[in-house]
Amino acid sequence: MSGPSNPKDFISIADWSRDAIEAMLARASELKAQRKRREPGHALQNRSVLLYFEKPSLRTLVSFEIGVAELGGHPVYLPPSQVRIGEREAIEDVSRNLSCWCDAIVARTHSHQLVLDLAREASVPVINALTDYLHPCQAMADVMTVAEHGDRSRDRLVYVGDGNNVAHSLIHIAGRLGMRLTVCTPEGYRPAPEVVSRGLELAREEGGDLRLESDPHSAMKDAAFVYTDAWTSMGQEAETRERQAVFQPYRVNASLLSSAPSDVRILHCGPVHRGEEITSEVLDSERSLVVHQAENRLHAQKAVLEALVLEP
Ligand code: NVA
Repeated sequence: MSGPSNPKDFISIADWSRDAIEAMLARASELKAQRKRREPGHALQNRSVLLYFEKPSLRTLVSFEIGVAELGGHPVYLPPSQVRIGEREAIEDVSRNLSCWCDAIVARTHSHQLVLDLAREASVPVINALTDYLHPCQAMADVMTVAEHGDRSRDRLVYVGDGNNVAHSLIHIAGRLGMRLTVCTPEGYRPAPEVVSRGLELAREEGGDLRLESDPHSAMKDAAFVYTDAWTSMGQEAETRERQAVFQPYRVNASLLSSAPSDVRILHCGPVHRGEEITSEVLDSERSLVVHQAENRLHAQKAVLEALVLEP
């Protein structure tokens, strides 16, 4: 993966300082309270935000579109079939043209490199709305949810399942904010080595603790939060059967949670594959924070938009 993204972009949490992340999280909570009071936002007045989504999306697309509108801005959804990057037009031309009209670009792409390329050529901020490598907007909402329902700096968050994009951004944010995180995956599905080494480095600097595990029952022991995601991410459909076999012991069900403290809370970024990585019994239980997590996508992303677009 070539080079870090420009500081004006929100592509990887690891590129952002602890203070900046903390400020965005605090702002997200204010925006949440303002919304409950139905106070209108103005930060994006007379600004337009382009939404370019190559992969399917429910939470991210809807929350960005509504978030831009609630801040007084104008969201523009651009389907990839209209653009055909690299086929109809080169990425640099797409990026430079969009920069003429838009004040920010929100992009969900298959390849992480494409978001980096888009950002390199854009003169406006680019926000990563998920790639095959990272999901930073999700990580912001996750930490916001943990802080609302527990003690963010002391409670251990245990991610169980595939060492994927969601796990990567979780490692970055937990490291950056000095949190305690366990990532429990089968051996062949660990997070990327450079993400793990960056996470360990950040955890050392910020007073956090990152552990890698492969035994799901032992990982549960000191969990305050248990987090899982799809076993097969978008784009990996050809591996579905193989993954279903490997990940069986990692399913978040009553039996796995019997190894966790009784007050453990449950997280999932969605989309949920009920009965696969998590059972309905657990997902629909009182322990589940999954709907709160989804709600917080809106508030966290509004804070990111404000921080990027209002930056001089
Ligand atoms: N890991 C999942 C996250 C979806 C929001 C995927 O990439 O499909």
